[in-house]
Amino acid sequence: MARWNARKTIVAAEDMAPEHRLTPSLSWPHLVALGVGAIVGTGILTLIGVGAAKAGPAVILSFSIAGVICAAAALAYAEMATMMPASGSAYTYTYAVIGELVAWIVGWSLILEYSLVVSAVAVGWSGYATPLLEAVGFPHLLTQSPELGGVVNVPAIFIIVVVAGLLIYGLKESATLNAALVLVKIAALVVFVAVTLPYFDAAHFDPFMPFGFPKHSVIGADGQPAEVGVMAAAAIIFFAFYGFDAIATAAEETKNPGRDLAIGIVGSMIVCVVIYMAVAAAAIGALAFARFANSPEPLALILREIGQPLAAKYLAVSAVVALPTVILAFFYGQSRIFFVMARDGLLPQGLARVSGRGSPIRITVFTAIVVAALAGFVPLAELAALANAGTLTAFIAVTVCMLILRRRAPDAPRRFRTPAAWPVGIVAILGCCYLLYSLPQRTQIWFVCAHIVGLVIYFAYGARRSVAGREAEG
Ligand code: ALA
Repeated sequence: MARWNARKTIVAAEDMAPEHRLTPSLSWPHLVALGVGAIVGTGILTLIGVGAAKAGPAVILSFSIAGVICAAAALAYAEMATMMPASGSAYTYTYAVIGELVAWIVGWSLILEYSLVVSAVAVGWSGYATPLLEAVGFPHLLTQSPELGGVVNVPAIFIIVVVAGLLIYGLKESATLNAALVLVKIAALVVFVAVTLPYFDAAHFDPFMPFGFPKHSVIGADGQPAEVGVMAAAAIIFFAFYGFDAIATAAEETKNPGRDLAIGIVGSMIVCVVIYMAVAAAAIGALAFARFANSPEPLALILREIGQPLAAKYLAVSAVVALPTVILAFFYGQSRIFFVMARDGLLPQGLARVSGRGSPIRITVFTAIVVAALAGFVPLAELAALANAGTLTAFIAVTVCMLILRRRAPDAPRRFRTPAAWPVGIVAILGCCYLLYSLPQRTQIWFVCAHIVGLVIYFAYGARRSVAGREAEG
């Protein structure tokens, strides 16, 4: 028991052995760019179509519900990230505040989240790249996952390999490139809103909520059961909002964590909520939702349908150029979670060794193989739903940690304080629970199975070897 409850002491980066140390090289503009780079992606570009299929025009309501819950959790994240500017985000906070076993569950959820986001965004990328590739003769069988009539999604695998290469080449270069690509992505969404606004038709919003509010099952047009409703859409759309937690995983590499992390997390969240509401309203206003529901490239489709093929091409090319920033940010976060868990002795220590450029190569290569295999064969909505389950679990844990510390250490210095901590914390926790409940049942079952596997690994390996556990036993 002493081991499972063992809590980790946060070691300042300066006190760590050199081979376990990451170089502080980032400041807040990097972090806002890393945040927006990680947040704006397949959620708004592609899952808006999945959301529209589940909620109709009320997908706008789904966006705002997911946004409010995510913003509440983001505030808790900012407080924890500035109190404990150490790599590992939710996993590290839970380890320091609650204990090892819960931290393992959170760490495993983060591994699921980050790897599945990489896979999901790669599939989203392939959705926009495919029409461009097929136009130059690339065979359809090699651009789709099996469920959509293909054999293997080659473009999705390709983009993962490219991003893994960038990461191994070195973080600094990647972060600068990332900042430039973020601008491309924002410009494309602004152009989308500007081009579609003249076609805005309020009649497209009626009926507003054709599938009702809570999650419920219906038989879809394809004869298969589907879970619909505003909340079922919100549980998927939630994917569009996270990514700021990737900033928290960069804490150890931030020059002035107290100020930079709070600005990075809260700032990038606000930017994204504003952009999404505008894009969602413009999309529904321009075209009846049923015409772009479940499309692999809904925003480009809308532009083509309203007779703006040039704008559609521009949007597709921008997505193809810029979506890799999302993959980059989550890939980066994923390798850091692995790194920190290995450093704590919960995963093999050999994995924690960093290269001369301060990047853990083995973990990056290992992660690339796993996520590329998933991206090649699994459909986007399934990947996104399971990633959301992992993220929601991590958000609940971070918010609980924030509230526990408010009680346990009310006077500890906090460089960022969540305003109205208890009401905001309760909104975040209950909201995340409601979203977890609103995910497809199949996802919930997969999620529990993944955690059973995780716990087997923990008891077989980490529980015996953890650094904190051994310290707790003296
Ligand atoms: N929020 C990120 C996206 O939408 C994961 O792609």
